[in-house]
Amino acid sequence: MTSATLIDGKRISAELKSQIATEVSEFVAAGGVAPHLVVILVGEDPASQVYVRNKQKACEAVGMKSTLIRLSAETTQAELLDHIARLKADAGVQGILVQLPLPRQIDEQAVLDAIPPHKDVDAFHPENVGLLVQGRPRFLPCTPAGCMQLIASVEPNLAGKHAVVIGRSEIVGKPMGLLLIQKGVDATVTICHSRTRNLTEITRQADVLIAAIGRPNFVTGNQIKPGAIVIDVGINRTEDGLCGDVEFASASQVASAITPVPGGVGPMTIANLLKNTLTAARLQQG
Ligand code: GUN
Repeated sequence: MTSATLIDGKRISAELKSQIATEVSEFVAAGGVAPHLVVILVGEDPASQVYVRNKQKACEAVGMKSTLIRLSAETTQAELLDHIARLKADAGVQGILVQLPLPRQIDEQAVLDAIPPHKDVDAFHPENVGLLVQGRPRFLPCTPAGCMQLIASVEPNLAGKHAVVIGRSEIVGKPMGLLLIQKGVDATVTICHSRTRNLTEITRQADVLIAAIGRPNFVTGNQIKPGAIVIDVGINRTEDGLCGDVEFASASQVASAITPVPGGVGPMTIANLLKNTLTAARLQQG
């Protein structure tokens, strides 16, 4: 088996960002105010600090405004909810993102429920999740939308194909399944998780395999159908450095196309956040 095509998330996200930059300048030229994203970071989680910085840099690169609100790890839920209430009332803010995970004293769901749905650029609010479930999304969830764009770069037609998602998180696994079964995409979807029996039997049927379980090198080449498209959502920090949920060396010998970590899904998440922030600005200023 020859080696797989590398799906270049850096290049594909750069194309998307350049298109967004054009649309932002058109929006401003037509009398709109540059879209403004506010990111709230609670605590000092090192990975979150990197993600948040990348989100801010990306905003500035496409002509959007970004503000970071840094709160201490001891912040109470009431304090965080106060910040959100203030941003909700501020017409100069179109997008609000609370970086996850949150410290233990804060109920994550209560916080996500408090973000006004039209400013919810992560698409985590129940109203936005509901709209997605019903096939009429307002915002697409950033990471799953990025995975769809990466898949489309190598295979535009998924109709009838078997897509297997490993992981059932609210951020990736569940919404990923929803995007794949959408009318017009028409994949057949299996969602696997930590309690799935005979995982390898299922993953070996996948024409498209999406790994989003957060375990380093969990999926190996022998679990992949020859010629499959493999999308690795994992970002795991190990003693040997950063790695995905897929063991790249063995998987790339079997797959037809595969995403690297880093440089695969990660940059796509940010590009889609920018896209949602522009959509939010259009909804609020239109
Ligand atoms: N933490 C890890 N991924 C995400 C994401 O997509 N959005 C937010 N807000 N926090 C995250």
